Amino acid sequence: MKKLWGGRFQSETSNIMEDFNSSIGFDWKLYHYDIEGSKAHVKMLAETGIISREEAGLIIGGLEAIEADIDQGLVEFTSKHEDIHMNIEALLIEKIGQVGKKIHTARSRNDQVALDLKLYARQSVDKLSGLLKEWIDILVNMAEENIDTIMPGYTHLQRAQPISLAHFLMAHVEMARRDLLRLESWKSIHNTMPLGSGALAGTSFPIDRHMTAKDLGFEMPSMNSLDGVSDRDFVIDLLGACSVGMMHLSRLCEELIIWSSQEFAFVEMDDAYSTGSSMMPQKKNPDACELIRGKTGRVYGDLLTVLSMMKALPLAYNKDMQEDKEALFDGVETWTKALMVAKPMMKTLKVKKDNMLRATRQGFLNATDLADYLVKKGLTFRDSHRLVGEIVFDCIEKGIGLEDISLDDYKAYCDLIGEDIFDNIAIEACVESRQSLGGPSRDQVVNHIEFVRGWNV
Ligand code: ARG
Repeated sequence: MKKLWGGRFQSETSNIMEDFNSSIGFDWKLYHYDIEGSKAHVKMLAETGIISREEAGLIIGGLEAIEADIDQGLVEFTSKHEDIHMNIEALLIEKIGQVGKKIHTARSRNDQVALDLKLYARQSVDKLSGLLKEWIDILVNMAEENIDTIMPGYTHLQRAQPISLAHFLMAHVEMARRDLLRLESWKSIHNTMPLGSGALAGTSFPIDRHMTAKDLGFEMPSMNSLDGVSDRDFVIDLLGACSVGMMHLSRLCEELIIWSSQEFAFVEMDDAYSTGSSMMPQKKNPDACELIRGKTGRVYGDLLTVLSMMKALPLAYNKDMQEDKEALFDGVETWTKALMVAKPMMKTLKVKKDNMLRATRQGFLNATDLADYLVKKGLTFRDSHRLVGEIVFDCIEKGIGLEDISLDDYKAYCDLIGEDIFDNIAIEACVESRQSLGGPSRDQVVNHIEFVRGWNV
């Protein structure tokens, strides 16, 4: 079969080269965007008189018929035509004859592929934003139900200070809001349309790039034809957003895995998001979380693939850039699936509130509150910190908590301590007293929930 570009060639491409060179095995996923871009291009060619309106009508009709055929699974792509762009062009010529050969006037595959991939990326950003909004809703609703669910907060994975589960969940809401803002900023940075950059140096045809940019919903055409075909920042930025988003999910999943262990027993995953062991009949494993944690590394790999591929690459198009697609598809699809699993997994999560509360009873989570109490009574913070450290040491020896010390014993440590000490170091009071903005007290968490509910990107 003669290649569409075969004029200057005397002999056929080798089979092994054809296989190595071809991208149709993955870039077929761009077919919708390729046809969308081609329709805008052809309409513009007619408007500017580069082709006739009749010709444009025939081409557009042909493209729409091809799209419908692909939608219905009627088309078999071939690696003989290398990629989605040439497969569609060949199908078009087959369908409508000679006039189909005009579609590629004033266009190169270099600006064509840059456009197609950007259209795919833009659509993906919209879908991911929708998923993130749903994710935020689930977390916020769950937080609202758990404002009074007291649990240990950790640093170094050591019990530190009591917080509420709501406060923990709302921390993840903040991460998801930043993920959403990252996608929003992607849309404003990458709102330029590369079609019309040609192979690298534009075209001598009187094309109207404002027209195609507007038609395709971009703010403006890209301003430099070399950059237009060379730019893959939009791929890297989107994979960056996917990587950070996955990193956020992986941190939540890691805690849920730990919390599902018998040692913690803070939560139980629904059966629908767990799996069993082929050998050990008693096992119920938090696989959904483990997979999200594992796939995070894979998405980082996608980002590194494109960053490394683009490093030191000369302007303009180089075939290396064909490697951008699988990485981008994989990063986007992986984050999408991770969010789709995380949503119902969180919604069906069983929270063992009693165990969470019980865990706050051991580990001196109220030690900071005792120290703060002494400061409010007149000690300096450093002296107070030291004294409380000594009291904690004694309690460890005796196997008791700070709330088990008698008032007389407290007074022996420091006569500034009064009867009110016990109200001040009760775990619930420790959470409630942290009224500082963004803190775990009921009012602060409710305030945060209301803020997020009223927030719109
Ligand atoms: N299949 C190619 C890619 O994905 C399309 C662009 C090819 N351009 C070229 N000059 N060979 O990058």
